[in-house]
Amino acid sequence: METLAKFTLPAVLLALILVFGFWLSYAGKPYHGILFNLHKLLALGAVVLAGIQFSKTLHAPDGLLVALLAVSALCVIALFVSGALMSAGKLDYVLMLSIHRVAPVVLGIALVWSGFLLVRLR
Ligand code: HEM
Repeated sequence: METLAKFTLPAVLLALILVFGFWLSYAGKPYHGILFNLHKLLALGAVVLAGIQFSKTLHAPDGLLVALLAVSALCVIALFVSGALMSAGKLDYVLMLSIHRVAPVVLGIALVWSGFLLVRLR
């Protein structure tokens, strides 16, 4: 539990990213500048903080945990790329939005699963 407590701030940031993401979507196009930047910067902050905490926590990670973190990293890349392409109006919007909707679900599953493994490995 002590280990999971280190991830409280990234988890709170993730919740805020979702709130601002749905708000941004609801506000429609052209995207609201402040909502868009808050959504993007919170995402950047959460990724940096989570990365620092994971690097401090993982001393001898097992294979499954590494695989789950690799999936999480791929989801984050997909979110940043699809988010940037949607805002730039490049490529197929519906495809980018679908990626941007599926990736948080996969990311959530991978992170919760990683949390269980981290608690068990401690
Ligand atoms: C951890 C990272 C991120 C998560 C979990 C996330 C999640 C979300 C969610 C749940 C939505 C609402 C989608 C819907 O209407 O169903 C959304 C919308 C949006 N996000 Fe993100 N996002 C992340 C990062 C980013 C980044 C880095 C950018 C920009 C570079 C971005 C750009 C957008 C845009 C433009 C929308 C509005 C889409 C639309 O409805 O037209 N997101 N995001």
